[in-house]
Amino acid sequence: MALVEIRDVHKTFGKVEVLKGVSLDVREGEIVTIIGRSGSGKSTLLRCINALESVDSGEIRVEGRHVHAKMPDLKQFRQRVGIVFQAFNLFPHLKVERNITLAPLLTGRIGKSGARALAEDVLTRVGLADKIDAWPEQLSGGQQQRVAIARCLAMAPHLMLFDEVTSALDPELVGEVLKVMEAMAKQGMTMILVTHEMGFARNVANRIVFMHQGRVWEQGPPAKLFANPETPELASFIASAK
Ligand SMILES: Nc1ncnc2c1ncn2[C@@H]1O[C@H](COP(=O)(O)OP(=O)(O)O)[C@@H](O)[C@H]1O
Ligand SMILES: [Mg+2]
Repeated sequence: MALVEIRDVHKTFGKVEVLKGVSLDVREGEIVTIIGRSGSGKSTLLRCINALESVDSGEIRVEGRHVHAKMPDLKQFRQRVGIVFQAFNLFPHLKVERNITLAPLLTGRIGKSGARALAEDVLTRVGLADKIDAWPEQLSGGQQQRVAIARCLAMAPHLMLFDEVTSALDPELVGEVLKVMEAMAKQGMTMILVTHEMGFARNVANRIVFMHQGRVWEQGPPAKLFANPETPELASFIASAK
């Protein structure tokens, strides 16, 4: 069974149809990378999967359950489906530990006595155990983004969504964040990521999805897709991304 099932999803903002019938399945443990030009609907699709946006028609299921804004357990659902954005969104007035433990404490996932250990565990997984008592402003952009990822991991998600998480970083900081994501992929996390990092897409993803004008235009294993694009739209996108 697919972990994520997307069936003929349509979404319109005002008069603009942004998703024009998107269907996509993602299996457990799969790493799916979504590529495509700006405005092709990639972020909107990710936000629909997390119920941050509602769909106009069609259906999204995660772990077999219909996703929509009125889910009775929307909060718990969002914990199982972590999302990391381009902007780090750490709370500037809270130290790293508190940034990470706030949500799991609030939701009762952990008690006070387990908070420090949980923060240590997830920070170790992103290589930042020594920053547990730092303030966000003391960290580089790459470190902040890794804390943002650790904060998601603290909720023990079943699925992670990443929307261009390296796009706002200085080039020399991109690699460390990609490395963390690659390690998560190897540990079996199911991930859907929007990225401009073609090297990452090529080397880490099981499948590439090329979105164009609100549709899944082409998809397949990276080797095939990059070497033999079937449509002129994908061929021209690959050429421009080099
Ligand atoms: N909340 C919104 N309100 C109105 N238009 C939006 C909104 N979000 C996205 N759009 C429009 O939807 C289109 C697709 O956007 P987006 O999903 O962000 O594409 P991508 O992530 O591929 O760049 C764009 O034309 C964008 O301006
Ligand atoms: Mg986007």
